[in-house]
Order: sequence, then C-alpha cells, then structure tokens
Amino acid sequence: MKIFNSKKDLKDCILEHKRNKKTIGFVPTMGALHRGHLSLIEKAKEKNDIVVISVFVNPTQFDNIEDLNKYPKTLENDIKLLESVATDVLFCPSVEEIYAENIVSKNFNFDGLEHQMEGKFRKGHFDGVGTIVKTLFEIVEPNKAYFGQKDFQQLQVIKKMVKKHHLPVKIKGCPIFREEDGLAMSSRNARLSKEHREIVPFIYKTLKKVNKKFGKENITDINNWVENQFKNQPLLELEYFTIAEEKSLETVKKAASNKKYRAFIAVFAGKIRLIDNIRLKN
Ligand code: PAF
Repeated sequence: MKIFNSKKDLKDCILEHKRNKKTIGFVPTMGALHRGHLSLIEKAKEKNDIVVISVFVNPTQFDNIEDLNKYPKTLENDIKLLESVATDVLFCPSVEEIYAENIVSKNFNFDGLEHQMEGKFRKGHFDGVGTIVKTLFEIVEPNKAYFGQKDFQQLQVIKKMVKKHHLPVKIKGCPIFREEDGLAMSSRNARLSKEHREIVPFIYKTLKKVNKKFGKENITDINNWVENQFKNQPLLELEYFTIAEEKSLETVKKAASNKKYRAFIAVFAGKIRLIDNIRLKN
C-alpha cells in the first residue's frame, strides 16, 4: 500500500493511474477503522481498479471540542487493517495540509437537508462535511465514492452536493454494518464504558420494534412509545427520534404509500453520542 501525507504526491500518483485508464474508488474516513469501513473498501475493490482511502479527522465538522480531541486515533492499527484487505493507496494528511492556516468551513446550501435531525443538534456540521468531502474529491478525483448508511443524512447531503456542484463522481451508499448484538459499528463505540456497551444494543432493538409498529400504529403514538422506552432506561439519554421521508429527510406524522421512510435516532450513552437508523417497511 502506498501512503501519502502530501496532496501533491497523492495527485501525482492518481494522475499516473488515470493515464493508465484505471478507475478510482474512494472511501473517505476519519480512521479508527472497523469492519464497517472494511466492507466499504471491499465494495470499492469490486467495482474499481484502484482503491484510495483517506484517514483524516476533520476539525470543521465537530461542534464540540472534547468530541474532536477524544476522537479515537489509531493510525498504526488502521494501516495494518488496510494492508490486510490490500488497499492500494492511503491518504492521511495533516490538518495544515488540508486547511493551511484557515481551519474554517465553506457555506453550503443542501436545499434544507442540512437543517433536519443532525443539523438541529450539531451546528455547522454539514458545512464541515461538505467542505472536507468536496476538497477530498478535488484531490482524489474518484470515479466512485463509498459511504455507510449509518450516517444516512450525511449520505443524502453528499449526493445533493455532488448534484448541485456537478461533481464527476458516483456516490454509493452501503448498508449499515452491525455487531452481533445489533449495535451499529462506529469508531465512537470504542469509547463506551463497559456498562454502556452492554446496554446500547437497546437502540437497534427499539428501532426494530418501531419497524414492526410502522403502518399499524399512528406515528405520534410510535414517537411517544419510543420516548417512554428511553425514559425507562436511565443509562441512555434520547436526543431525538423521528420518522422521516428518505429523500427530503422531513419528519412526518403520516406516511404516504408511494414514499419511503426511515426512523432516525440519536442517543447519548454517557458522553458518547451514537446515531442509528432503519429503513421502514412500506
Ligand atoms: O463519515 C465520516 O467518517 C466523515 O464524516 C467523512 C465523510 C469522512 C468526512 O470527514
């Protein structure tokens, strides 16, 4: 695996591959890699000649400095994992290499997608995501880029950005990877206390029950039911639960039969914030 810290060196390498008519699959990450990330790499390998992964903890998408400082950094282990799945290229730049002196986001308009759910609770988050993903796309120039559906809102925001800015890349959303007990894989899971780790599968269990209720009970009753479930769960604090339409991400109180819906949830387990979602059957 080739490892680059410098934009210029990476660009030279990409240029060489493009000259040889190779297609590039790209998996942007913030490191602390787990099997969910590796599944994205596997997908990228199936459909592209060369797979590039980036590991960069992007400061502009964090609204909480403690969350940023404590974000797990495990580059040595990440490199071993990447080598085990024969990744071609790793790009792991410094903050200065990406932002120079100016560590700020650009302003984006994602047609309202950015104001739903995560946007309400993490101010400026999607401007930060848009800024880094667009920058990385400009450096890597991938044919296809792969994102997990755990961050479903992020996936929709990125698709919107690509469309609005006419970026020449295809965005591929990949299924959520879960631990055996249902917990959605996330780099943040490593920071959970033993006590919290034992209880957090409750999040996905609740989502699965929501899926059973959807279509049978009205949405207000489902919302109240979820809130009560978490009130009875002292170790977990529900930040939001909502049922939203997949494309607009707008919260609904009544489902239409010709649209697709997901249930979205954000929960604090101590100081660790976890998100998850589930596609609801029609
Ligand atoms: O999903 C992530 O890990 C990040 O938000 C991303 C897409 C790599 C941008 O920093």
